[in-house]
Amino acid sequence: MKSAIIYSSKTGNTQLLANVIKENIEEDCEYIGMPNTDVNAELYFVGSWVDKGNFDGVILEFLKTLKNKKIFLFGTAGFQNSKPYYDRILNCVKQSIDESNEIIGEYMCQGKMPIAVKEKYEAMDLANAKFNVSSFIENFDLALSHPDSEDLARLENIIKNI
Ligand SMILES: Cc1cc2nc3c(=O)[nH]c(=O)nc-3n(C[C@H](O)[C@H](O)[C@H](O)COP(=O)(O)O)c2cc1C
Repeated sequence: MKSAIIYSSKTGNTQLLANVIKENIEEDCEYIGMPNTDVNAELYFVGSWVDKGNFDGVILEFLKTLKNKKIFLFGTAGFQNSKPYYDRILNCVKQSIDESNEIIGEYMCQGKMPIAVKEKYEAMDLANAKFNVSSFIENFDLALSHPDSEDLARLENIIKNI
């Protein structure tokens, strides 16, 4: 089966996942990179960083073009490291996937964020903030090591068992 890995990664976290997929898929991988409509595969690994609780717009637009394909979704998100959070994101992503496709798997993990995000939190007025800024800062620091070797090993295991 011909496969392709289509992804968007601004700062390299999602690219790490894409590389793990490339190294571990058994199917012929004919393309890895940003959306490219010249590619014609049967199995698509489609990945993204998370922006406003959803995949990057260029990836959502690409997903909308797929019909009768097998799709594996993957991505990295910064704001929380929890299954319910990842499920929420993936449910939003699935709104862009036609029903003729089959989603054969999915994988998300946390990804480190640019320091500008922490600086924005630190500039907030802690006393009057509507949310818990210190928990955001704590999460920012926890995210710094991700994707880590365990995140990548979990993905490797999933890919090898497809
Ligand atoms: C402008 C911007 C917006 C972001 N929005 C979200 C978001 O809505 N939810 C989230 O969980 N992470 C968000 N993040 C964090 C990134 O999704 C996370 O760092 C991701 O791992 C980046 O992946 P990449 O290195 O492949 O670009 C945002 C980061 C930036 C810079």
